[in-house]
This record gives sequence, C-alpha cells and structure tokens, in this order.
Amino acid sequence: MSILTQLPAVAMPLPADIRGFTLAPSAASPRLIQLTISREVVEAFVAAVAEWPVQALEYKSMLRFRVAKILDDLCDNTLQPVLVNTLVDRATGGFQVVMEGLDSVEQAEEMVKLSTAVAHLMGRSNYDAMSGQYYARFVVKNVDNSDSYLRQPHRVMELHNDGTFVEQDTDYVLMMKIDEQNMAGGTSLLLHLDDWADLERFFAHPLAHRPMRWTAPPSKNVARDVFHPVFDVDREGRPIMAYIDQFVQPKDYEEGNWLTDLSESLETSPAIVSLPNPVGSFLLINNHFWLHGRDRFTPHPDLRRELMRQRGYFTHAKTLRDPRQV
Ligand SMILES: [Fe+2]
Repeated sequence: MSILTQLPAVAMPLPADIRGFTLAPSAASPRLIQLTISREVVEAFVAAVAEWPVQALEYKSMLRFRVAKILDDLCDNTLQPVLVNTLVDRATGGFQVVMEGLDSVEQAEEMVKLSTAVAHLMGRSNYDAMSGQYYARFVVKNVDNSDSYLRQPHRVMELHNDGTFVEQDTDYVLMMKIDEQNMAGGTSLLLHLDDWADLERFFAHPLAHRPMRWTAPPSKNVARDVFHPVFDVDREGRPIMAYIDQFVQPKDYEEGNWLTDLSESLETSPAIVSLPNPVGSFLLINNHFWLHGRDRFTPHPDLRRELMRQRGYFTHAKTLRDPRQV
C-alpha cells in the first residue's frame, strides 16, 4: 500500500485505498510498478464480458470502453486513477501488469479483453496498420523472413520508441506475452530517459531538434513518410524522444553519424533494464520517456513466442504539449 502514497495525483484524485489489485515496485526497476490484478477480479471480469468475443471489441469500438468500465467497477473504481496518474508521472510512467490465473495461450482471448480494458481506462488504442485492428498479435519463430527486426529472434531489437513513422500520437505502448515455448533469452529491455547518462549531451546538440525523415518498411502498411526531430519537450519542458534506428532516414553524412553515435550510446547504457515478461503479463509504458527493445534469443528449432501489442493516445492526461501553445 505504501507505494500508493508515492504516486502523484497529477491528473485526477487518487483513492485512499485500492481494491482488487496490488501495487509493488518491480524487482527489475523501482521506476516500474508491478500491478497485479487479483484472481477474483480476473475471474469476475472474464465472466462479465463472456458475451462479447474479441471480434465484438474489434467491430464496436465503444465496447472497448465498456469492458474498461466493467474492470474498474470490479476494482471499486480505484484502478482508473492509478493508471491515469502513473502513466504520465515522469518518475515512473510504466507498469508490468500481471493478471492472476491468465497464464496460458488457451486464454489468449481473455488476455486481449483484459489488456484492452486496462488500456481503455486511460486511453484509446490506435489503429494498427500491420494487423488492421486496434491491436496486433504476432508470432516469433526460429526462422523469419520479414523485413524488420520485429520478428527476428537471434538478434537484439534495439531500444526505440513506437509510432515514429505514423502521424497519430503514440502516448503509450502495451506489450503482452501470449505464448512462449522453448525460449531462452529474449527478455524485454527498457530504458527510462532520465536514467540515460548521455541524455543532456544529445538533447543539447543542434541535430536533436532538426526534423528528420521517418519511413516504414512495406509490412507496416504505412505509405507516407513523416518528418519530426528525434527530441522534443513535454508539457513541462522535459526531454522526450521519438526515435527508432531502423526507420530514420538521415539525409546526409552529418545526420547519419550523429544518429549512429546516439544509437551506440543508448545500446551501451548501463541503465538498461532487462526483465522477463511471463505469459499473460504485459508491459504498459509511457512511450515518450521510456525506450523499449528486446534482447536476443537462444536458437531452438521449436521456438515459439506470441505477442500482442496496443499503442494509443491518452484520454485523461497528457505528456505531449499542445502544439498551439508553442
Ligand atoms: Fe516497439
């Protein structure tokens, strides 16, 4: 309970107590909060939303908010303020959510529903062009022929922000593990900007604020390039990033070498947090000041990992400044 008193009520009042879930600092990082939804609430939620298959949530956007309300009601309306406030809290801004009793791939539909409910208590998940839905499920296997590192298991997926090549705001990223077989390695990697020793040096460089071109490979189904700088500031003037090494297109020698220096600094930061994300749990982070990636796996012929992601914008609080106030 003590952790509740450390959370700021930046966007809405916090409850005096919480019901139906627990909060604890993650063993991997004190900036990351482990939020465990009790078995009782998980079971009641699954029963209450049984009439709607995931397809109903796909077809009717409004139902994503209704399942959110059902979950919050089961927690005596104490879950929403914790989610809303924590995700925009610069000191934390990230959760590992564990749903007791949801831990096998046969429960994938329930996992999607429950994570949808959590996301829609504080935001709305964007259209995912890769899947054509508000979420994307995808499988990582031992062999891959795709055109980005998303599904290639034997190498590190470098630290990055999501949504760098789309025009929608991508305030949060939710990454869930649905299945995992014959896996060794492949832990999630996270880096909070304020823990990166070189932040000030790179943020102070003139190239940090020069618009660069960002373009996606064909599998992303995003036709148009977008232009924005690597760094911006949040509503309070603190640095935030929109960066991914694979999709930035430096226009010249100077940009290319500055970006490579940036990449090397990030990848060698001793502040990188490496944590396992067990089946049925998910990471939910503020995408503006947390970078994420994935460590390499050990090859195995029967390796299988299934993931689900949602990215979206905040509906109750903001990290991004209002462009009209610039
Ligand atoms: Fe990502």
